[in-house]
Amino acid sequence: MLEGRPQSYWMTSSPATSYPVLTEAAEVDVAVVGGGVAGLSTAAELARAGRSVMVLEADRIAAGVTGYTTGRLSSAHPWIYGPLRDALGPDAARLYARSQQEAVEQVGRTARELEIDCELERRPSHVYVESPDRVDELKAETEAVQEAGLPASFVTDTDLPYEVAGAMRVEEQAQFHPRRYLIGLAEDIVRRGGRIHERTRVVELSEGRGHRLTTGDGVTVTAREVVIATLFPIVEHALLSFRLTPLRELVVTAPIPEEDDPGAMYITRQENTRSVRTAPYRDGRRLLLVTGESYAPGNRDVADHQRRLVAWTREHFKIGEIVHWWSAQDLDTAGKVPYVGRIADRLYVATGYARSGMSHGVMSGRLLAGLITGDEPEWAYLYDPRRAHPVREAGPVLSGGMTNMRRFIEDRVRTQAGDLEDIPPGSGAVIRHRGRHCAAYRDEDGTPHLLSARCPHLACLVAFNGTERVWECPCHGSRFDLEGTVLQGPATSGLARIEPGPGPEERN
Ligand SMILES: Cc1cc2nc3c(=O)[nH]c(=O)nc-3n(C[C@H](O)[C@H](O)[C@H](O)COP(=O)(O)OP(=O)(O)OC[C@H]3O[C@@H](n4cnc5c(N)ncnc54)[C@H](O)[C@@H]3O)c2cc1C
Ligand code: FES
Repeated sequence: MLEGRPQSYWMTSSPATSYPVLTEAAEVDVAVVGGGVAGLSTAAELARAGRSVMVLEADRIAAGVTGYTTGRLSSAHPWIYGPLRDALGPDAARLYARSQQEAVEQVGRTARELEIDCELERRPSHVYVESPDRVDELKAETEAVQEAGLPASFVTDTDLPYEVAGAMRVEEQAQFHPRRYLIGLAEDIVRRGGRIHERTRVVELSEGRGHRLTTGDGVTVTAREVVIATLFPIVEHALLSFRLTPLRELVVTAPIPEEDDPGAMYITRQENTRSVRTAPYRDGRRLLLVTGESYAPGNRDVADHQRRLVAWTREHFKIGEIVHWWSAQDLDTAGKVPYVGRIADRLYVATGYARSGMSHGVMSGRLLAGLITGDEPEWAYLYDPRRAHPVREAGPVLSGGMTNMRRFIEDRVRTQAGDLEDIPPGSGAVIRHRGRHCAAYRDEDGTPHLLSARCPHLACLVAFNGTERVWECPCHGSRFDLEGTVLQGPATSGLARIEPGPGPEERN
């Protein structure tokens, strides 16, 4: 297991932000809940369009998944164009490509215009396979990408230090420092009269003629329109809890000499995903970022995933010390395409980016602002969160729902056994205590700390992630610290504290 706490390179190489907590009731045209790439891109477009806009962020802006990403900004999303063309037709694939490539170009334009130094580098992007068995499939996908209008070609030579069987190379893509870009964008929102409030968690949304949002401090905001950009939506509409699946991935970084830079972005979905890029670093070196090892939140083998990713990185690149490691999660949708758009009257969501959230986030800003200002882009229908593609989505939705149900039941069965005394110091487990499911953590001194193991979102049981020392909910990905405080939603409240000791049997 890697030493120390997880630490994102993007977080450590950009300034901290300190926007004020919301302390007084307010009324705005549009409230945007969540200050990641989706929320800030939307707020920036709306502020430009002259709307009064307020961003309500539970923690700090650009410090959710957006602060823990890999920062590839690409329209060449792996393995999407063929299935999209086959399902919805060639025009849909072309519009998808256009909406994504416009987002890539928009970041470049905005960074230039606002003079944001976000280390934007234009580089080609590659999707590759190592197994010769998959070359024909990749050639077919390359044709679909060309047909969609992107500058793609099939190649067998790359600048990677290892052989691949084939790669789809797409020109005119980019990589950047996502936090520096978004911190600059946030400053522009405020310059244009928008408001940003950090450490302001929305705990309730009451829908009506003017939607009413309530924060954790009991302050209310009335907004004509509300955009939910909280990664997993904090509202229940259109069966989204069944149509989104959380997946975590790990990232490791290491400095490499400039001459070892493979000069482009690379991703494979084989070997449980490997994504490779570099970023500018110190002393004439580049920082290699390797991402991979998808797993569900609540997985007990995080240390094994970490070992595999580090071993793979050492085997494929000449590196010394690993200088950062972190993990983060994103959401997959049933049909591979995100859910971005109107979900109820004057209520909008942006979610399901499937680890392609940089271009999707920027695209969401354009789309949602367009819906709100009456300038809907031609491609908006592709992303409609209420879209009903019964034939295509029924299977995946059912299987997503079954997976959640299985996790819900399995965890209850698995935690029937186990005792507080069995938990070693510095570790945690879900146990039965006085008839209740408890998330039990024993600190280094041996003192037990008990929390309710029921996730406040939809009551799945949490599981202990010993590598990062947090409680994770396997169903929709909420995360809690050892005190039970919410680190990541959709839960909007924490795990209740339970006093250890003898007492009457309770049921939950
Ligand atoms: C390891 C990894 C690598 C990735 N690499 C890439 C990549 O190279 N390229 C790419 O395109 N995509 C990548 N992605 C995907 C991309 O990072 C995400 O899709 C994107 O950052 C999601 O942005 P977001 O704004 O939706 O969510 P977030 O950035 O998580 O923002 C949501 C915000 O909402 C806030 N919030 C939550 N609940 C509340 C509440 N109740 N009240 C107020 N605020 C709330 C959170 O605090 C958070 O700040 C990667 C994902 C992972 C996991
Ligand atoms: S996150 Fe939905 S039940 Fe826990």
